[in-house]
Amino acid sequence: MTFLSSCTTETIKNAALSLKNGHLVAFPTETVYGLGADASNPIAISRIYETKGRPSDHPLIVHIAALDAMGQWAQEIPEYAITLARDFWPGPMTLVLKRSDLAQDFITGGQETIGLRVPAHPVALALIQEFKAIGGKGIAAPSANRFGAVSPTTADAVEEELAPYLLAGDLILDGGQSLVGVESTIIDCTGPAPMILRLGAITPLMIEESTGMIALEANPSDIRVSGSMASHYSPKAKVILDVIAVAGDGLIAPDQIPTPNGVIRLAAPSTNEEYARVLYHALRSADQKGLQVVVVLQPGGDGLAAAIRDRLQRSASEGPHQVNS
Ligand code: TXA
Ligand code: MG
Repeated sequence: MTFLSSCTTETIKNAALSLKNGHLVAFPTETVYGLGADASNPIAISRIYETKGRPSDHPLIVHIAALDAMGQWAQEIPEYAITLARDFWPGPMTLVLKRSDLAQDFITGGQETIGLRVPAHPVALALIQEFKAIGGKGIAAPSANRFGAVSPTTADAVEEELAPYLLAGDLILDGGQSLVGVESTIIDCTGPAPMILRLGAITPLMIEESTGMIALEANPSDIRVSGSMASHYSPKAKVILDVIAVAGDGLIAPDQIPTPNGVIRLAAPSTNEEYARVLYHALRSADQKGLQVVVVLQPGGDGLAAAIRDRLQRSASEGPHQVNS
C-alpha cells in the first residue's frame, strides 16, 4: 500500500489507473473517507468486502461524476429524485434508485436497487472524472473503516484502520480532514415520495423544501443498511451518553459544558457543524489514549443534530458484531 500525502493531477491520474487495474484506492470525500474500487470489477469489489470484514450482502454506494450518469446505473428515476440530485449534488446525499443492468448483484448485495452519490470533495471528483476518462463507469466506495467501527475522517485514520489489510498497489489519497464528518444522507427514491434511510447533513427539511414532499424516515428494521444496525460506528472504548463524566473518562460535549477535574476532554465543539466534523476523530482519539469510557453529551435540536444523535446512539449500543470492529 502507498500513502500519497499530496494529490496532484499526476497522482490522481495514477490513482484512476490503479482503480482500473483492480486495486483499492482510499480517497477523501466531504463526509468521510471512502474505500474505492472499480464498480464494474467483481474481483476488486470482493476485496472491499474482505478489507472491511463486511458481510457481502450489504450494498455499496457507487460514486459518479455528475447527475447525467444516473441513467447508466438506474432506471425509472422519479422526478423528485432528479430534483434532489439537481439541488444537492455534488454533496452529502446518496439516492437509492431502481437499478439498471449495469448495477450487478456484487454491488447491490442482490437487491434490486442501487445507491448513487456525487461527492463534493475536489479530490474525489477529480478521481471519478479521471476514472471516467479511461473508461470507468463509477467508483464503489463504502466508508474506509473495518465493519462496525468508526468511519475515518482523515487519511491517517484510514491508514491506522486498514493498513494491515491493504495490499501492494493499493493507495491512500490524503485530501485533508473531511469537512462534514458524518456519512451522507441516504434517501430511498423507489417509492412515490422520498424515504430517509440514514440521516445526514441533507436534512428532512431541506428535502421537503427541495421536492415539496414530506420525507418519511424508514423503520430501521425494514432496511438493509449496515449503518442502520443498532451497533455501529463504535470505538473500542465504551460510549456512554448524557451522564456526568468522572475522573479518567473521556468527554465529548458542546463547548459551554465545563470539563470536570481529571476528565480528558476530547472535543468541545461550538456548533452542530463543528460537532459533526470532529466527532469521529474524537472517538478515535479515545482509543489512541487507551481510555475505557467516553462520555458524550448529545447536541439538541433537529437537522444535523439529529444525524449526530443517530450515530451516537449506535456507537453507544452494544451489539454482537462489535467484535468485528
Ligand atoms: O458518506 C457516505 O455515504 C460515505 C462516503 C464514502 O461516500 N459512504 C458510506 O458508505 O458511508 P457505507 O457503505 O459505509 O454506508 C453506506 C450505507 C450502507 O449501510 C449500505 O448498506 C447502504 O448505504 N446502502 C448502499 N446501497 C444501498 C441500497 N441500494 N439500498 C439500501 N441501502 C443501501
Ligand atoms: Mg460505513
